[in-house]
Formats: sequence, C-alpha cells, structure tokens
Amino acid sequence: MKFFVDSANIEEIKKLNEWGIISGVTTNPSLLSKEKGNPYDILRQICEIVKGPVSAEVTAVKFEEMVEEAHRLADIHPNIVVKIPFIEDGIKAIKYLSERGISVNTTLIFNPIQALIAARAGARYVSPFIGRLDDVGHDGLSIIKEIVEIFTIHEIETEVIAASIRHPRHVLMSALYGAHIATIPPNVFYQMIKHPLTDIGLQKFLEDWKKKEG
Ligand code: E4P
Repeated sequence: MKFFVDSANIEEIKKLNEWGIISGVTTNPSLLSKEKGNPYDILRQICEIVKGPVSAEVTAVKFEEMVEEAHRLADIHPNIVVKIPFIEDGIKAIKYLSERGISVNTTLIFNPIQALIAARAGARYVSPFIGRLDDVGHDGLSIIKEIVEIFTIHEIETEVIAASIRHPRHVLMSALYGAHIATIPPNVFYQMIKHPLTDIGLQKFLEDWKKKEG
C-alpha cells in the first residue's frame, strides 16, 4: 500500500515529502479553502514538491461545467488527477474524461456498488471515505475490504484509495484489506511513527553508550 498525503498545506506536504515515502497528494475544496492564496497556484506548488499524482477536485455539479473545470485543473500540471464526486452527472464526467486521457479519482464513495460503477465508468481511483462512515455508526473499513474483493474477483485495475482516515488503525486495516493507497492527514502520519517503547529504548541505548568506559 502506498502513502498519499491528504492536505493542501505546502509546509506540511514539504516536511512529509522529505521522509521519502510519499507517492502522491489528495486535496479537496475544504482543504484548499483553509490555505491562503490562489488554489490553482497551491496545486501547482504541490505538483512541484511531490513527484506523483495530485488530486484536485471540481466544484461544478453539472456535467458540462464539471468537464470544463476538469480540463482547467488538468492543465495545471501533467500529474494532476481530477477528483469527481460520485453523483449522476459525475458518472458521465468520469467516462468522458477517462476516454480523453484525463485520470479521475472518484470521491465521496460510501458503498462498494458506487465504487464498482465508478470503475466501470473508467475511474483510475476510487476514494471510499472510512472516517465519515464511522462517524454515522457504520463500519468504514468493511467497505474497503469489499471493494478490494470485488475489484480482485472481476480483475478491475482501478486503485482503491482509503480516504477520510482518522487514526493509525485505519491505515493498518486498510493495508491488511488490500487498499492500494491510503491518503493520510499529516497529524496521523506523526501518530503512526510514534511508539513509547521506541523512545524508551533509544534513551536507554544512549545512556548505556555514555556510561561506556574508554
Ligand atoms: C479524500 O480524498 C478526502 O480529501 C479526505 O480523505 C476527506 O476526509 P475527511 O472526512 O477527514 O474530510
């Protein structure tokens, strides 16, 4: 499973990219609206930092406008992947854009059938939102498992991005269930690398080393 950063914050993306394990970035209108500056400039800067797919979402909801906005976003940089919400006009837009060589990440996926339809329309990625399902009392991770199973049975190449990740266990289980990618907010990356026994162990090694004679 690959790691994407789920953020539009340039400083956070730069810092995490230095770890050398980041394969891409996902943004959305809410994340971009938190940042100062022109969203298109921010997306361009992100593409210059991370050498991998960078998802940028349309805000239009009608087919013609979605397609027009998708082209404007795709023109920002060759690594831009256009995020299309899973609505009726969105399905048509996925088909239209995919046939014209524009990669699509279908967003706001909340059940496996939506994911299957998006894949059949030609989406390169589907993004099931685990955390938001958990928030309303459902089991978000179970849809990751089911989507991966369906795509495996039917030999579908669309990649599954585990999205709306809230804690390291979401990452662990997404990896076990076979998600191709997890898109992770910066705070969860820092939670993932922390273990108290690592810190205690290091402290002990350094103390013992200091005590060494000669
Ligand atoms: C995915 O691509 C979305 O940007 C994101 O994961 C949404 O997560 P949230 O539910 O934390 O807003």
